[in-house]
Amino acid sequence: MGRLKVAVLISGRGSNLQALIDACTDTAFPAKIVLVISNVADAPGLVRAKAAGIATSVIPHGKYPDRSSFDRAVTEALEGVGTELVCLAGFMRLLTERFCNHWRNQMINVHPSLLPAFKGLQTHARVLEAGVRISGCTVHFVRAEMDTGPIIVQAAVSVGADDTPESLAARVLEREHEIYSLALRLIGEGRVTVDGERASIDGADALIKAR
Ligand code: GRF
Repeated sequence: MGRLKVAVLISGRGSNLQALIDACTDTAFPAKIVLVISNVADAPGLVRAKAAGIATSVIPHGKYPDRSSFDRAVTEALEGVGTELVCLAGFMRLLTERFCNHWRNQMINVHPSLLPAFKGLQTHARVLEAGVRISGCTVHFVRAEMDTGPIIVQAAVSVGADDTPESLAARVLEREHEIYSLALRLIGEGRVTVDGERASIDGADALIKAR
């Protein structure tokens, strides 16, 4: 079986993109990145993609009259290279229901909290404000409603009494990089099954024991 063809959608820094690029550098890894799309022309993540020799495309949302036409342009670019899985990695646009349905169970996202808690932006500030002791990150399949969808992998991070949103973000980000490439590997190996709104992983017991 060939390697899963992945496209990554970004808007900015691209550190999660870098984690996926690094994972895919190993030719034994079951996925490869065929395209990186950014809606922001000067996103630093584009430089990372080019440095790795990956094709890039800039699709500026401002050039489209509405969300639907932007989403159609993105789907066209994705299908043009035979994308089998879409990875959102700091992609800061809401996607239409139609787009999400088109890529249903073929599009994943990483979010810096233990979903379903703390959906949305300014996550770490809200985590600290709520006084929770444990935060973390989640990789999940994407549904039209923001930060919802079947959960694939999560990692927990302890919240310290003197954490700031920045210090917590930095520790969570390290785990994001780990679980995003892990989730991609599991999907590439064909070990992830979605049943309604729940995802299950073949061999998940072994996975947990190994940590
Ligand atoms: C990450 O924290 C991710 O969870 C969130 O946006 C941030 C993107 O960072 N969705 P990067 O561009 O991958 O460095």
